[in-house]
Amino acid sequence: MTTTISLDGKAAIVTGAGNGIGRATAKALAAAGAKVCVSDTIAEDGARTVAEITEAGGSAIFMLADVANEDQVKAVVAATVAAFGGVDILINNAGIGGGQKRIHEVETADFARVLDVNLLGTFFMTKYTIPHFLKSGGGSIVNIASTYGLIGAPKAPAYCATKGGIINLTRQLAVDYGPDNIRVNAICPGYIDTSLGRRGPTLSESEFTAATARREKAAAMQPLGRQAQPVEVGNVAVFLSSPGASFMTGSIVTVDGGCVTTFNYGEASN
Ligand SMILES: NC(=O)c1ccc[n+]([C@@H]2O[C@H](COP(=O)([O-])OP(=O)(O)OC[C@H]3O[C@@H](n4cnc5c(N)ncnc54)[C@H](O)[C@@H]3O)[C@@H](O)[C@H]2O)c1
Repeated sequence: MTTTISLDGKAAIVTGAGNGIGRATAKALAAAGAKVCVSDTIAEDGARTVAEITEAGGSAIFMLADVANEDQVKAVVAATVAAFGGVDILINNAGIGGGQKRIHEVETADFARVLDVNLLGTFFMTKYTIPHFLKSGGGSIVNIASTYGLIGAPKAPAYCATKGGIINLTRQLAVDYGPDNIRVNAICPGYIDTSLGRRGPTLSESEFTAATARREKAAAMQPLGRQAQPVEVGNVAVFLSSPGASFMTGSIVTVDGGCVTTFNYGEASN
């Protein structure tokens, strides 16, 4: 899939760009002409994204950083400005799931880590990028939330809480920074075929197979009847970052194959 949107001359930061949605978004932004700072906690994955962008004729740098670490976030923003002369686009994509447990079974440290990565990480990246937007006269932020921020989903208390938080933070930032020509929007992906989507690399082979099968079955019941490829989210992030979306701010955009527009009616639909 390709895009015809031009982001020539723009500089972007994508967090969690070593894999999945972040990687696809970084590549889609670069294909549209943006120079991209690929940031991730896994150096080899980030380096692979950078190599794929440069091999395709694009421009990218890698910064090793945990979004929950304030000093590392500052370094990501500084390196982007040093390499590209500024920053115009921020994609707050890095996020973790936090395991499948009901809240009374969740360890406090595990809940806190999801808050740190998903919410505090979004705060840090936004806090240190916005001064550059203010200096240059505008910018765009796309927060990658989730359909799980719109509904209550089973056994995902920290994830649902943080994604709901990101959604309303998006609206709040749109209010504060609209007058500064800074647009802030969020995407709520549904079932996307990534390692996080398949519940992460920590599963055993059999758990992974079972989780993948459950997920494919659930996706098959949604209106579009399948999981998406990460680039199908990346393309929407590119559009929201582009002049084509110039009157969009505070928008919460579902990219979910129709998932939250309905529920599965099962036999009742016959
Ligand atoms: N896959 C889905 O079905 C789905 C659905 C809804 C929302 N999302 C959201 O999309 C985003 C990307 O998810 P994905 O499915 O591509 O996941 P993924 O696990 O495939 O990729 C996530 C990337 O983020 C990096 N990362 C993790 N913690 C980080 C940290 N603290 N700092 C910086 N980088 C970090 C990982 O190393 C990895 O490269 C997440 O915010 C996730 O919640 C995914």
